[in-house]
Amino acid sequence: MLPAIRRNPTGVFLRAARRYGDVAYFKIGPRRGFLITNPADIRHVLQDNARNYHKSPLYEKLRMSLGNGLLTSEDEFWLRQRRIAQPAFHRQRVAGLASVMAEAAREAAGTWQPIAAAGRPVDVAEEMMRLTRTVVVRALLGGDLGPFTNQIDEAWARINQHIGESFWSLGLADRFKPSKRRRFEAARAVLQGTVDYVIRQRRRNSSDSPDLLSILMSARDEETGEGMTDEQLRVEVTTFLLAGQETTSLALTWTWYLLSQHAEARRRLEEEIDRVLDGRPPEYADLVNLPYTRMVIDESMRLYPPAWGFSRQAMADDELGGFRLPRGWLAFVIPFVLHRLPAFWRDPDVFDPERFSPGESAERPKFVYLPFGAGPRQCIGNQFALIEAHLVLATLAQRYRLRLVPGHRVEPWPLISLRPRFGMQMFIEHRAVSGTPVLERPQPLHA
Ligand code: HEM
Repeated sequence: MLPAIRRNPTGVFLRAARRYGDVAYFKIGPRRGFLITNPADIRHVLQDNARNYHKSPLYEKLRMSLGNGLLTSEDEFWLRQRRIAQPAFHRQRVAGLASVMAEAAREAAGTWQPIAAAGRPVDVAEEMMRLTRTVVVRALLGGDLGPFTNQIDEAWARINQHIGESFWSLGLADRFKPSKRRRFEAARAVLQGTVDYVIRQRRRNSSDSPDLLSILMSARDEETGEGMTDEQLRVEVTTFLLAGQETTSLALTWTWYLLSQHAEARRRLEEEIDRVLDGRPPEYADLVNLPYTRMVIDESMRLYPPAWGFSRQAMADDELGGFRLPRGWLAFVIPFVLHRLPAFWRDPDVFDPERFSPGESAERPKFVYLPFGAGPRQCIGNQFALIEAHLVLATLAQRYRLRLVPGHRVEPWPLISLRPRFGMQMFIEHRAVSGTPVLERPQPLHA
């Protein structure tokens, strides 16, 4: 299946699940494994028998780029790192960073002003990338990047591109030319240099800034009292920077797209924002009063989960869904597929934030909605991402309405994360704040 999977992984997995049910056997290049879609089997792999399942060899590429950090390590080493890092990501801690997020969102709203006035389209995917990059850099590192300030953007884009494009090469001969690899290595050196620089500065002038780096630097394993070495700190901080930025920006990009296609949901979102905030910019304390805004984000991550699929490798023989899964085989857990199965979702292809109302959510089985994974390896940054996306959407939708450029092609592109293949060209339009009726522009017809 390798060529077909490379061409259209989400389509292949979706068709297999719809045709063959709970367990589908796959041979992908040299690897064999099962696509699993039954919540009980997913729970078994990700939670109940998680010790038997390591991250699959597909993560090898990530390990080469990021180092042996939380996302890629295993067993005792992973557990120790996770224990040390976990408290930094508790909701209350992350809430302390919400002002950084809100401020970055307000700045973005300011830069959109002349764009909206000029009526020219922008690539919202790029806009969201820039915004979430600003947030994660300030939240993690505090913002002062010294001599690296002007290099980081380009380096970052290159690393993302490289990791994304190499994902399905499955450890086969790397398809990249030496020149491309050299450019990637140079970009990686910039990112690592930046993180090293900030750590060194911090060791020199100890600061009590509330960013994640300070928290991680002083964090200790509760059982052993050990902290992280500088080298380990560098690996983890690089992991957070990369794992936390593109995913969150994609969640927002797909949300803008879906809102542009669903006038009723957009109207409800704007009504909620105007009613609750009455023209004031949102802060962390407002989020609890903006439930519909959050439901829109949840529904957007159902249809377009930024981490669209992940996989595990069995360390010992196991049984899955009544079939023997030999040691070394893979288990594929594909949120993009799970989130669209009619067994768990009514009208699965329809965008309907109502399914995330408390009543409907309570009725849904566990392990069928997995934008952040599940079990011990669940995303450590999920609160961070959700608070950020919630604040950014509320801040920007309070002032602007985004309209897809007529005729712009929108196609999900499943690399390591789910990108829009052709970007997301949109017009940014001003809206009147606070309850004042907004005149509807006639919607142009487009395919
Ligand atoms: C919408 C945004 C995000 C999405 C959709 C997302 C998704 C995921 C998923 C699905 C996993 C589990 C992968 C697996 O089981 O193989 C994961 C793990 C992880 N994520 Fe996120 N993530 C997001 C934001 C963030 C943020 C903001 C950070 C950090 C600042 C972060 C850091 C991590 C780390 C370190 C892991 C590995 C955890 C471990 O194995 O212990 N993520 N993420």
